[in-house]
This record gives sequence, structure tokens and C-alpha cells, in this order.
Amino acid sequence: MAAFLFFVLSSAFYSGIAAQQSPLNISLGSSLTPTGNSSSWLSPTRIFAFGFYQQRNGYAVGIFLAGIPEKTAVWTANRDNPIFSSNVSLILSTDGRLILQLLEGQYISIANPLEPISSASMLDSGNFVLYNSEKEIIWQSFEHPTNSLLPGQRLAADHELISSASETDDSRGIFRLKMQTDGHLVQYPVGTTDVAENSYWASGTNGDGPNITLNLQDDGHLYLINSSVNIVKNLSDGGHPQNKMIYLMKIDVDGIFRLYSHSLDQMGNWSILWESSADKCDPKGLCGFNGFCTKLDSLVECKCLPGFDFVNQGNWSSGCERSLFAGSCNSTDPMANYTIEYLESTIWEDNPFFILETNTREDCAKICLEDCNCEAAFFKDGQCKKQRLPLTYGKRATDSNIALVKVGKPATKDEGVIPSNPLKCRKEEVRVYVLIIGISLVVLGVLISVIAGVYVRRNQVWAYKQISRFRNVEFLENVAPRAFTFAELEQATNEFREELGRGASGAVYKGILPDSEKVVAVKKLEKVLTDREKEFQNEITVIGKTHHRNLVRLLGYCLDGAKRLLVYEYMSNGSLADVLLKPENHPSWDERTKIARDIAGGILYLHEECETQIIHCDIKPQNILMDENRCPKISDFGLAKLLKHDQTRTHTTFRGTKGYVAPEWYRKMPVTVKADVYSFGIVLLEIICCRKSLDWSFSEDQAVLEDWAYQCFKAGELHKLVGDQEVVDMRKLERMMKIALWCVQDEPALRPSMKKVLLMLEGTVDIPDPPSPTSFSSST
Ligand SMILES: *[C@@H]1O[C@H](CO)[C@@H](O)[C@H](O)[C@H]1NC(C)=O
Ligand SMILES: *[C@@H]1O[C@H](CO)[C@@H](O)[C@H](O)[C@H]1NC(C)=O
Ligand SMILES: *[C@@H]1O[C@H](CO)[C@@H](O)[C@H](O)[C@H]1NC(C)=O
Ligand SMILES: *[C@@H]1O[C@H](CO)[C@@H](O)[C@H](O)[C@H]1NC(C)=O
Ligand SMILES: *[C@@H]1O[C@H](CO)[C@@H](O)[C@H](O)[C@H]1NC(C)=O
Ligand SMILES: *[C@@H]1O[C@H](CO)[C@@H](O)[C@H](O)[C@H]1NC(C)=O
Ligand SMILES: *[C@@H]1O[C@H](CO)[C@@H](O)[C@H](O)[C@H]1NC(C)=O
Ligand SMILES: *[C@@H]1O[C@H](CO)[C@@H](O)[C@H](O)[C@H]1NC(C)=O
Ligand SMILES: *[C@@H]1O[C@H](CO)[C@@H](O)[C@H](O)[C@H]1NC(C)=O
Ligand SMILES: *[C@@H]1O[C@H](CO)[C@@H](O)[C@H](O)[C@H]1NC(C)=O
Repeated sequence: MAAFLFFVLSSAFYSGIAAQQSPLNISLGSSLTPTGNSSSWLSPTRIFAFGFYQQRNGYAVGIFLAGIPEKTAVWTANRDNPIFSSNVSLILSTDGRLILQLLEGQYISIANPLEPISSASMLDSGNFVLYNSEKEIIWQSFEHPTNSLLPGQRLAADHELISSASETDDSRGIFRLKMQTDGHLVQYPVGTTDVAENSYWASGTNGDGPNITLNLQDDGHLYLINSSVNIVKNLSDGGHPQNKMIYLMKIDVDGIFRLYSHSLDQMGNWSILWESSADKCDPKGLCGFNGFCTKLDSLVECKCLPGFDFVNQGNWSSGCERSLFAGSCNSTDPMANYTIEYLESTIWEDNPFFILETNTREDCAKICLEDCNCEAAFFKDGQCKKQRLPLTYGKRATDSNIALVKVGKPATKDEGVIPSNPLKCRKEEVRVYVLIIGISLVVLGVLISVIAGVYVRRNQVWAYKQISRFRNVEFLENVAPRAFTFAELEQATNEFREELGRGASGAVYKGILPDSEKVVAVKKLEKVLTDREKEFQNEITVIGKTHHRNLVRLLGYCLDGAKRLLVYEYMSNGSLADVLLKPENHPSWDERTKIARDIAGGILYLHEECETQIIHCDIKPQNILMDENRCPKISDFGLAKLLKHDQTRTHTTFRGTKGYVAPEWYRKMPVTVKADVYSFGIVLLEIICCRKSLDWSFSEDQAVLEDWAYQCFKAGELHKLVGDQEVVDMRKLERMMKIALWCVQDEPALRPSMKKVLLMLEGTVDIPDPPSPTSFSSST
């Protein structure tokens, strides 16, 4: 069976070449121009051509079906910016490069083989190939698919097809089809991570092995095979006519991938043989934040939530924002300025921050109105799920889900007309709450909170003391972090056997350095900007120069090919999360105030005292490690710049950990040191109360610590926040609480600097009463 398939595959691959006359040999010095006599190089049977094809009001370079009237493009060069005016020429230069000459002296490279080109061919299969002087193929378009697959071409593991931006612009669009290394073929919106919540179609072949590929055969058979050439899944049956028909698989502009056929007679149309979905509202990301997809017959349209308008008219993916002015929400009378509007049969990504049983949608509406944090809710099957904005991946569907949207009441007559500056007020309304979170994330958070907990053997501590004078000398000599080879670290960690924890930046392993017997924590960075070796080294130098008793020391690093590892000193008492959340570990009140001061001192050093200012971006209890004396040390500082993070508003991909992330991450606002102040404020609340900032085992009003703490503060009931059995100086508690509430102000300018925080923690300055963290907006 396998052998047979292999034969079929091979013949499919070569039929285009073998069956036709030998391909034309395009020699060095050949050139093309969009408007001249030769604008493309044809394949022997003139079905395919490589060269210029028309796009909007210019030309793109690529491969297209010259043999049919539509001249459909199947491959496009330079997709970041594919459209050129007519004043360009494509040259296979005499020094062996394929370049697009723009103006005198300016050129763009179309293909980058490792060796000089000595000739090129446009094959009848639709593959454009470049040869070296030994007539070996050194580059072929089939290995660099853009949005389409042709018979004989395959989509290999870890590769993806990306849709075009529009029917007349083949630059990258907003949907992708990825052949994952786990064997799963999945569709996602561009710019999202490869997780199930973002996917809108999947082949269901995950776990069927590595190196599964998507293949198209010349009889229209579209299927997935594994590395031993066994079919894992058929997507569409084969057996279609092979002669005078051409097949094409393409991820279309609308996000659906389809298999098409077209007869090679001059007549005829593309017809669809198979498609990944018949519902054009399926592709996620078609409508941006707070929009939803609707269908009328076969016409699709994005609409905005009631009370919302498109951010950019005519651009669905830009999403929607509030259009109506509404007064601020006041928790003593939250219903005054709002009403609820209903949207039937719509579904969204469900990310509730609270779920309640209710009988009717009116009850659900009331519950949402009464909560200033609730901006929308879903009502289905007797459950009312409170949501925060933005709502994502919305569409109309035959589903009983009802979306309830909180809408600002227009100002009533005696309050005056709608203010003349709606932009200013809109901004206040659009504020996105900090703690967008689902119960699933809380569970995730708990899972993640395993971290570098470590212990040093007692005799080693003793040994360390014995030779400490000698060690000090060594320490001074080795101030800069040392470079390790990957093999050294592999050996030190015993082939990465003991995993200490795993965070957003990568997994951490325990190791012992062979030369000094020093116990270390080795972090394997994932998602690093791999191609920027220099930048990596610069960052390492910056991190290596930081020396503070409340920062974890970077001892070394490894830069080996694409591998990036960091070697840190080992912390034997786990993380602050372990200390705070395990009742048997609870530090006393006095110890807690000391921990808070130490952390503040570490952050202050990063912000103001080290050579280069460092914004941590991910302050949270899991990143604060405890040494053998339970002295806290901040870890992972400086990593923000090393890791690849899409710092757009896409709420799934921002840096940091939900719950500790300052609101400006969600807005189009610059992120400054004040973002760390915010995260510190949340951590301080957790230190004061010895609980997580989000904990759904508490009743609804207590689940979000920030809100609950402010309520208690307002009501003068701070004792509710600490355990009954705990002896706490109430005046000190009030001070700490005020500091925390100042730090978690939504408006960055209201938050104190770390220096001020430290002064306040040390009791040397007076602290005014903080306002409600959410009462000031960024526009005031
Ligand atoms: C193409 O033609 C050149 C010059 O005639 C020759 O040197 C080269 O080997 C040919 N290449 C192929 C792949 O036939
Ligand atoms: C283009 O073709 C026309 C007519 O076929 C011919 O007169 C002209 O010389 C050609 N130009 C070039 C640059 O080959
Ligand atoms: C092309 O270049 C010529 C001079 O090199 C210039 O006169 C002409 O305007 C250019 N055409 C376009 C469409 O840019
Ligand atoms: C998968 O493909 C890669 C690259 O071709 C190869 O190195 C690896 O050994 C393959 N794995 C399996 C299990 O076939
Ligand atoms: C490929 O799939 C076949 C049939 O499902 C299976 O027997 C074989 O082990 C798979 N090969 C690999 C390398 O996973
Ligand atoms: C896939 O299709 C081929 C031929 O069309 C057939 O021989 C094979 O049994 C099918 N495999 C599966 C897993 O359905
Ligand atoms: C091609 O499609 C158009 C509209 O979709 C239709 O009017 C025409 O008849 C079709 N032609 C053929 C040959 O199928
Ligand atoms: C539409 O909006 C998105 C997101 O704001 C942006 O990335 C894209 O470039 C816009 N598209 C057009 C055609 O303006
Ligand atoms: C309604 O909004 C206005 C304008 O922001 C505000 O002054 C007023 O206090 C709000 N009323 C209530 C009861 O929240
Ligand atoms: C909230 O409403 C109450 C009663 O209507 C009022 O006393 C209080 O000043 C309001 N607070 C804010 C911040 O508007």
C-alpha cells in the first residue's frame, strides 16, 4: 500500500515534467518588463507563466495560470509589498541573482537560494525552479507556497498558507492555514497564537505523528499523509479527470480553503470541489473586537454591538467601539446611567468573569446592570455569564445564546444635551477592564504557579561558608555573565531532567555547574527573536550588569544556533506564590511588610538605579522567588525585550499575565514603568490578604481582590481582608492598603513612582485617601 502510494505520489509530482517536452532553459541575463514584449516566461505547454501579472493599478511578480482567461495567480513574490508600478524590470542577472530592478541601483531580491543561480525553468507543473551550475535545483516555488497548492505540491509540517488581502491584492491577508508539527492541519486568524480558542477549522489529525503533510494530486485528491506515506485523512476524494483539467487548492480571501477545478479549454470557470466550511461566518477574526458576523443568503456582513460603531468604517477587522456617551458607573447606583440591549442567537468567545444561575434574561440583565464591572453578559440555559469587553469572534448562529450588552443611556433633558466633545467621553467609556479573565484562566494560573522552588543541600551551605573568602574573589572576577555551550548546560542539567517550573518565557530546569558544583536554574527560552544575535547579547549585558539583593542573579547564558538559555542562581524556597497561598507557609504580618518593601526596592532599582532602565512587564508572585532566608528576589527581568511578543491590542497575545497587567496594555497607550507599579499594587494586595487577586471560590463581590479591597476600604472594614486569627496593626494595614490602591489606579499618571511607593512603605510620607481605582480615565 505504502509503496503503491509512493508511486502514485512520485508520478503525480513528475507527470507535469515527464509528459511534456523538456522545459525551457531561462539563461542568465534574461529579463522581463511588465509592459514590454516579454512580461513572463511560459512553461512548455503555456499553461503556467512566471513573471508580471496585473494587480489593482500596478503589477505583481509571481506564477499564474497563463492558459486560462482568468490568469489566476498561484504564487506571489515579495508578499509584504507586492504591487509595483510599470517602471520595473525582473532580471536573472549575470552574477546569478533573480532580482527586481526598481530605479537605477535599487533592487529587490525575488528568491534567495544559497548558491548563485545559473539557469531557471518554468515547469508545466506550475513549479518555478532555479538551478546551480551542476543543474541541481537550489530553489523552487513549490517549497515556498503563498496562498495556494497545486497538484504535486505539498504543505510541509510547520508551514502555513496565508490568504491574500483582497481579490486584487495578493499581499498577506488575515487568515492562515497551518500544518502543525503535531499532525494537525488548522485554520487561525493571522497574528494569533496556535491555540484551540483561536482556531476555526481543524483536520482532527493531531497526535497522528510528526511530519504529516497536506498533499494535492493531479486527480483532485486532497489528503494528509504521514512520514511513512500512509494516508492519515482524506479531505476530498480523487478520481477526477486528469487530462485537460487543472486543480488548485487555495485559502481564499474570506478565510475558507477550497479545492477548485478548471477545465483547460478556453471556456469554463473555476468550480468548487470541496471547501473547509460552507459557513462564511466561521472564519474567526473576520469581524474585529465587539463586532459580529451575520449572513443574508450568501452575503456576509459584520455588524457592531448595539451602541457601538466601527473604529474604521469599511474595515471590519478593525472592530467596533462605543459610540454613545454614557455617564460613569457609580457602584452605589449602577443602573442610573445604563440600560441593557439584547442580541438573540449570537455567539462569542466565552470568557466570563462570573457565572450565575438565573431563570430569565431579565434577571441576567439586572445582575449585569448592578455590577459596574459587567459590560456584557451571555444568557443561555439558565446561566448568566458576565463578560468584560472586548467581545471577540462574534457571529450569528442557530444557538439559543442571547447576548446582553450594557448600553449608556443618552443624557436626559435635565442633565443637558450630549456633550459636544464625544471623543473625550467615549474614551472614558471604552475603558477596558484590567482583569479580563475566565475561570479557565484562573485554573491555568494555578497550574502555572509552579516555579523554581529549590533547595541547597545543607552540607553545601556549610561548604560555601568555609570557602566564602575564596568565592568572593571568584565572584568579583566573574561579574559578567559567562557564556556556556549548549552541551555544557545539557550536562549540567543531566539532559534537562528535573523541570522546576514553566512560564511564558520557557521551562526552567535544575542543574549543577560541573566546575563549581554550584546549583543553578537553567531557563530555556522559547519564542525568542532568534535571528537577532547581537540584540540578544546586548540585552544579556544589560541584565548581567544588574546587582541588587532583591534581584535574581544571571550567572550565564547560552547562545547556540537558535538555542537561547539563561543560567540563574538557584532559589531554594520556591516563589512568593507558594509562600502566600499555602496556609502552612504564611509569613507573619511583619514578615509580609518586609517582603513588600524588598520587592519594591528591587523594582525601584530596575526603574531608576541601574545603568539602563528596565521595565519588567511581568511582575507577579510566580516571578518573585524566595531564597533560603525567605528574602524575595525578582526574576525574569529584562526578558520583555528578548521575547517575541506582538504588542498590539490583540488581547490574546500581549505580554504579561492576565490579572497583573495594567490597563494600558489593552489600550493604544504607551507602556511605561507605571505598568510595573500597577502589577506591584496587585501583588501588594495579595501579600496583604494572603490570597490570589482573582479567586472564584469567594462570593461574587469578593472574587476580584482589587474591587473587594476598595469596597472594604471605603466602608472602613479592612479587618475583613485579613484572617480573624491574625494580629495586625490596623493603622499599618490601612497604610499598606492605601498604597496598594494608589498603585492600581487605572490612570497611569495617578500611580505613584516606585520611589514614592518605597517612601510610603517605609512610613516616611503621608498617604492621602486613594480614589476608586476605576474612577479616573485616561482622557481626563
Ligand atoms: C541552460 O543553458 C545553459 C547555457 O546553454 C547551460 O549551461 C545550462 O546547463 C542549462 N541548464 C539546464 C538546467 O538545462
Ligand atoms: C516588440 O514587438 C514588436 C512587434 O512584435 C516589435 O516591432 C518590437 O521590435 C519588439 N520590441 C522589442 C524590444 O523586442
Ligand atoms: C517611469 O520612469 C520615467 C523616467 O525614468 C518617468 O518619466 C515616468 O514618469 C515613470 N513612470 C511611472 C509610471 O512612474
Ligand atoms: C521530520 O522531518 C524533519 C525534517 O525533514 C526530520 O529531520 C525529522 O527526522 C522528521 N521526523 C520524523 C519522525 O520523520
Ligand atoms: C503512518 O500511518 C500508518 C497508518 O495509520 C501507521 O501504521 C504508521 O505507523 C504511521 N507512520 C508513522 C511514522 O507515524
Ligand atoms: C482515502 O482515499 C483513497 C483513494 O481515494 C482510498 O484508497 C483510501 O482508503 C482513503 N483513506 C481513508 C483513510 O479514508
Ligand atoms: C461561468 O460562471 C458565470 C457566472 O458565475 C456563468 O454565467 C457562466 O455561464 C459560467 N460559464 C461556464 C462555461 O460554466
Ligand atoms: C483594517 O484594520 C486592521 C486592524 O486595525 C488593520 O490591520 C488593517 O490594515 C486595516 N485594513 C485596511 C484595508 O485598512
Ligand atoms: C451618571 O453619569 C454622570 C456623568 O458622568 C455622573 O455625573 C453621574 O454621577 C452618574 N450617575 C450615577 C447615579 O452614577
Ligand atoms: C455615587 O452616587 C451616590 C448616590 O447617588 C453619590 O452620593 C456619590 O457621590 C456618587 N459617587 C460618584 C463618584 O459619582
